[in-house]
This record gives sequence, structure tokens and C-alpha cells, in this order.
Amino acid sequence: MPESTLTQNIKTAQNGEDASQPLGRSVSRSQTAAFSTSPVERFRRPSTTSYSHEGTSPLMRRMTTQHGAPPKQLKPFREQDIKILLLENVNVTGIEILKEQGYQVEAIKSSLQEDQLIEKIKDVHVLGIRSKTKLTSRVLAAAKNLIVVGCFCIGTNQVDLTYAAAHGICVFNSPFSNSRSVAELIIGEIICLARQLADRSNEMHAGTWNKVSARCWEIRGKTLGIVGYGHIGSQLSVLAESMGMDVIYYDVVNLMAMGNSRQVPTLDALLERADFVTLHVPEIPETTNLIAKEQLDRMKRGAYLLNASRGKVVKIPDLIDAMRSGHIAGAALDVYPHEPAGNGDYFTSDLNSWASELRSLKNIILTPHIGGSTEEAQSAIGIEVAEALVKYINEGVTLGAVNMPEVALRNITMDEPNHARVIFVHQNVPGVLRRVNEILGGHNVDKQMTDSKGDVAYLMADVSRVKEEEVRGLYGELEGLKERILTRVLY
Ligand SMILES: NC(=O)c1ccc[n+]([C@@H]2O[C@H](COP(=O)([O-])OP(=O)(O)OC[C@H]3O[C@@H](n4cnc5c(N)ncnc54)[C@H](O)[C@@H]3O)[C@@H](O)[C@H]2O)c1
Repeated sequence: MPESTLTQNIKTAQNGEDASQPLGRSVSRSQTAAFSTSPVERFRRPSTTSYSHEGTSPLMRRMTTQHGAPPKQLKPFREQDIKILLLENVNVTGIEILKEQGYQVEAIKSSLQEDQLIEKIKDVHVLGIRSKTKLTSRVLAAAKNLIVVGCFCIGTNQVDLTYAAAHGICVFNSPFSNSRSVAELIIGEIICLARQLADRSNEMHAGTWNKVSARCWEIRGKTLGIVGYGHIGSQLSVLAESMGMDVIYYDVVNLMAMGNSRQVPTLDALLERADFVTLHVPEIPETTNLIAKEQLDRMKRGAYLLNASRGKVVKIPDLIDAMRSGHIAGAALDVYPHEPAGNGDYFTSDLNSWASELRSLKNIILTPHIGGSTEEAQSAIGIEVAEALVKYINEGVTLGAVNMPEVALRNITMDEPNHARVIFVHQNVPGVLRRVNEILGGHNVDKQMTDSKGDVAYLMADVSRVKEEEVRGLYGELEGLKERILTRVLY
């Protein structure tokens, strides 16, 4: 298939390349049959995955479908030029999506020491990590071609997000792929607590037969109080109702109820009515010690507390007291103020001063932050992050980015063969937009969007009816602006 090429950059600015020279890499503008033009099939998902559009934002769906003609497959490079390094055993679902794009993908099972990492990422454009790889400013500074990092996990505090943004490196993660796994764990734990299952099992393991029914309950008809009705809380609400529970919830935001559940106006109202209280709030200053002595005292005598949100949300010494007095009949904790970095004999008083007291209590389920740890969640994370990376590499779309403003334009379609997409990441200072628009102004700007986050702004503009040499000129002029962080042109 003949292929005309356009020059464009990736981070030539940071590489110190001369914008007046032919730009280093070519851009495929072939509309070959090798690329699917369907927005759904574009990533050629493995048929074995159970992907649906559930995880895609409504905005993203609208943008990929609203125009009549099928979207054109934009490519920043010849696809074999994109170098991707995946560390820490990223799920195969993610690896396949990236390989199917034709990128060069190297997947390594472990994380790397800082010096090894610096050597390894010198020329990669895309880096995929999980929680063990620390991307410090020193590491990121060594990655001259890096445009995007995919964290195939929930958290992003292993990455210096500010440095990354200031150098035009977009960071994605997957915050909600494991919501269902957490919700299912909570359902299991509610039954275990109501039936004192963990204690009976431990007794049997110790050789003790202890058949009791006193203070063992069905969960049918009991009231579940959900604090934080977000991704996990609302999933849990549906599951709990299907088990015959009454569901009430408290959230700082007014949210539509699922099924027959009801929102209550205050946390106290929830604590006073619920037989089981389960916490699904973020870790923010307002939620530190959200449940302490005063709140535990408000709970019904014989009620149960579950926490799979973040460790600091419950004041654990107060919970220990409430359980010792018999006021709280049982608890399940999956998260702790201090958690060890790896597996081993670490859940001791050295880590959390009250650990041995907690471990000695009856009817308390202690799990090592496994709420979201399922095969399904890992698979969903692989898909979600890999797709965000593909969208960013091929189309410049930043929806879901954690360190850049979220910017997207509807697709350039197959009816628009001579359109180019200009992406300009720049310092968020006065006067830049005027200068950018002076440069773009000589062309027909079909659509344009810009947004900022802190010190960094992200501009995306689709320019119609441009010739190859005009795109080259545009690129060179944008590269010349002193506020430029990164210029990309997709064609
Ligand atoms: N145990 C695990 O393995 C695991 C896995 C995934 C998530 N989590 C944690 O679970 C928690 C919930 O996750 P999510 O995905 O449902 O989050 P989410 O952002 O979808 O929902 C959080 C909800 O809490 C509400 N909220 C915020 N402050 C509140 C307050 N003071 N009182 C009441 N409601 C408040 C928000 O309005 C929001 O509706 C987070 O802390 C997350 O880190 C744990």
C-alpha cells in the first residue's frame, strides 16, 4: 500500500532537534484496509475479554459516534515506530490491545531498579507500570521520547505527576475497574460477620466443634448503611438489595438511588438505623477518623462495621474499645493506616501500635487490602489503561488523564482526508493562546479545544484542507513559541 508521509515530532523540543530540519519521524496517513475504521473495533479487542462500553465516558461515546462518516484512523508515526515498555507483569489484555495497534511492545514481568530503569526507558515513547515502579523526576528526565505513562493500577502516587505534566508526559490510571470486586467482597463479609463464620472456621482449624446459633443472623431484612455512594457503594447497593437487605446511604452529594435504596440526610441518621455500616469514601482530610468513638456510640448495639475504603477513615483504637464492650458485634477491615510494601509477617504492633489487640478480637475479619484484587479487575485494568493509551497516542485525547486537563475533539472522519490534528501542550501563562491562534489563523480551524490544569494547558485543534508542507510549517512555528512544552501533529 503506498503511503505518503508527513513529518511530525515527538518531543523534538526536549531532544533539542532543529524544527527547521525534516522532522524525525513519518506519519502514516494511509487509510489502509489494515486499520478498522469502526470506533468499536478500532482497538481490535481480544474476543475473549468481556469488554463493554460501560467504562467509557458518555462524552467519549458521543465523540466517536456523532459524525456520520466513520472516524479516520490517525497515526502519529508509522505504527512500528512506537516503542512501548511495560513493566510489572501488566495484564495480557492490555498487552494485546497495544500489540494489535502495531506498536513495538516489550513486556517485562518485574519492576526495575532506578538505574536500570533510566537506561531502559531512554528511547521509549510509552511506559506502562504498576505500583512498584517509582517514576521520580530523575527517571522521567532520562526518558527523552516519553509522551505518556499508563499506571495499570488504581493509585498514581508512585509517579511525580507535576514533573510529568510540566514535561508534556500525560499519565493515565484505572481508578474504577475493581469496583465490582470490592462490592462482592463486602457482600461475602456481611454474611460471614452475621454468622460468625470466621470464628467458627478458626475453631474448626484448631480442632474445636462449637455449634452455636445465638447471635447468628440471616441478612434478609436487615438494614445496610452505605457511607459513600460512588462506584463501589452503588454497586453494593444493588447486590445487597438482591439479598433481601434494606439499603440506606449517606453521601455528601445528592445521588440518585439504585433500586429501592434511600439516601439519608446525615451520617448520624445512617449510623442510628443501620445494622451493618460499610464505608466507601475517598481518603481526604474530611474522612480522616470519620468513624471514631462518637460515631461508634451512635451505632445500634450489636451492629457491624466494615471498612474497605482507606485505613485512616476509622479510628481503630476506638473500634477496639467498642468491640470489647460488645457494642459492636463484629467488623471487617481490609485497609489500615499503615500497610506494608510487600507480603510477609508484617502485620504487627511495629506497623500499627494496636495490631496485636485488633488480632485478638472475636468476630473480626482482617484482610490485606484485597478488596480489588481479582483476576477480573486486573483484566479490566489492562483494557481500560491500554485503551486510554491508544486514544492518547493516536488521537491526542486526554479523557481520564490524572495530571493533564481532559481534552477531546470528535473524530476526524474518512470524509476529511486532508485534515490534521494539532496538539500543543504549553505553559499556562497569559498571551499564549493569542500567539497560537495567530499561527493557526491562516488555516481553516475546523474545531478547537483548550483547557488547563495548574501550570499546564493542553490545546487541540483540527485544521482542514492542509497540505503536507503547510503542516510542516505549522509545526515549526508552534515549536518556536517559548511557552511550548510539547507539539504533536497527527494526520
Ligand atoms: N479495598 C480495596 O482494595 C479498594 C479498591 C478500590 C477502591 N478502594 C477505596 O474505596 C473508596 C471508594 O471508592 P469508589 O471507587 O467507590 O470512589 P468514588 O469516588 O466512586 O465514590 C466515593 C463517594 O464518596 C462520597 N464522599 C466523599 N466524601 C464523603 C463524606 N465525607 N461522607 C460521605 N460520602 C462522601 C463521594 O461523593 C462519592 O460519591 C476509595 O477510598 C477507594 O480508594 C478500595
